[in-house]
Amino acid sequence: MDFVNVADLGSAGLAEVLDLAAAVKADRAAVAGIRPGVNVGLFFEKPSLRTRVSCEVAVNDLGMIPYVLKNDEIGLGKREAVKDVGAVLDRYLDILALRVFDHRNLETIAAHAAAPVINLLSDREHPCQALADLQTLAEARPLEGATVAFIGDGNNVCNSLMIAGAMMGVSTRVAGPAGYAPPDDMVAAARAAAGDRAEIVITEDPAEAVRGADAVYTDVWASMGQETEAAARRAMFEPYRVDEALFGLAAPDAIFLHCLPAHRGDELTDGVADHQRSRIYDQAENRMHAFKALLLHLT
Ligand code: CP
Ligand code: NVA
Repeated sequence: MDFVNVADLGSAGLAEVLDLAAAVKADRAAVAGIRPGVNVGLFFEKPSLRTRVSCEVAVNDLGMIPYVLKNDEIGLGKREAVKDVGAVLDRYLDILALRVFDHRNLETIAAHAAAPVINLLSDREHPCQALADLQTLAEARPLEGATVAFIGDGNNVCNSLMIAGAMMGVSTRVAGPAGYAPPDDMVAAARAAAGDRAEIVITEDPAEAVRGADAVYTDVWASMGQETEAAARRAMFEPYRVDEALFGLAAPDAIFLHCLPAHRGDELTDGVADHQRSRIYDQAENRMHAFKALLLHLT
């Protein structure tokens, strides 16, 4: 089974992975070394701190063997055709986990590899992040019936969170400037997953999204690969900074979430990042537990 799109797990699979993530966090020793000899490729076409380190530690903890591959060696689609990279890695490795620019390259690799292919972030989705996001939210309150306000760019992180949340009965209200809402097919997928258990709201009004929410989430205004758009985006996104006043509209016990890296002063203030109800470092920690749970689920 692949984990290219967050929906690939199915609702039951997602619930199972989240339960497992909580269990492996509670008792790290219980799963130490239990999958010896499984070869896991971790490929990066873009920079990474959390994903690289949390995945490598998770793989090692389970007794698996990580192979970190950087694109300056591989030359995905340049030195070599994408499908050849997938087919060849598949002959060596038991699991292929990749961070790529173009989501279609993951689909090509998945089509040419029998091994499970895991998305470590693409231009469309960041499903491993969504696992950690929901794990962190579940530590604060039951997922079913919760509401997350996502403020900012309707990009990869937002897409996976909105869909995964819907699969677990979490409502998402996304607020961003016109032209930066999540793609229609992602909103449709989230609404289909939500059924009548949860609601997906797309608005340009950040206050409307945040009012009464159980969690407030934001991401960078310019993602990796969009650096040249940073100035134009800053002008558009300025009204969407999550500051203490905006966070104050959420439920009194609401938590603050961010996938990190954060650009303090842009999409969030220090006051929110370092707020006593900020859970950004728990969320980063949970990347490791959630990835471990995913690997156990897939092997
Ligand atoms: N949240 C996340 O994916 O961080 P990195 O880009 O540092 O891996
Ligand atoms: N949206 C961001 C997330 C980084 C973890 C990016 O794609 O750069």
